[in-house]
Amino acid sequence: MKQWRDSLALAAMLALLLAAVWGARPSVEQPVPAFPLSNMAEPLPARSYSPSPVFADGRTMQPPPAGTVPVDALRDATANPYAADAGAAARGEWVFRTYCATCHGPTGMGDGPVTRRGVPAPTSLKSDRVRALTDRELFELISGGRGKMPPYARMIAAEDRWKAVIEVRKLSREDAP
Ligand code: HEC
Repeated sequence: MKQWRDSLALAAMLALLLAAVWGARPSVEQPVPAFPLSNMAEPLPARSYSPSPVFADGRTMQPPPAGTVPVDALRDATANPYAADAGAAARGEWVFRTYCATCHGPTGMGDGPVTRRGVPAPTSLKSDRVRALTDRELFELISGGRGKMPPYARMIAAEDRWKAVIEVRKLSREDAP
């Protein structure tokens, strides 16, 4: 008798549980809540070449910001695509201090900290040979490495490698301290 009562109670509990799960399942017909993400639920489509009320110039597809350089141009440029203005020069200095100064030293003398720990010192960047290198040659040297110098194409973005060229030029022109 007790056993029979127990299984009845169990069955009732199971039925309740099923009803709860069934009732709580999301219904397909339910409308998407309008708030707070109504603009994500109902986006405003726009065609690339149609007029736009959103932007000041009235165009939907916005032109790239001033100074934007296409990716292929970065890879294939023969001359430095970046003018040696304050922004590019500061970035170049940062790249050099971060990736190059360990070996080449902060002023390019070839006296970076690792050279005092057994790594063969590179020659000074203030040589006539480095001064004679073109932008493209410097870029390729940084990208592909040479001898004991590792290649940086995978570690430093092309944009930053070109900016490092600005810094190498600056250091190679400066007289040795
Ligand atoms: C691990 C140490 C090391 C690091 C880091 C390093 N270099 Fe070098 N670099 C060298 C060595 C060694 C040479 C000489 C290579 C050779 O000719 O065998 C060299 C050569 C050069 C040269 C040519 C110098 C010449 O006399 O022809 C330039 C320019 C140069 N590196 C720039 C850079 C720049 C820019 C970076 C940072 C992106 C950098 N290097 C990072 C070790 C390094």
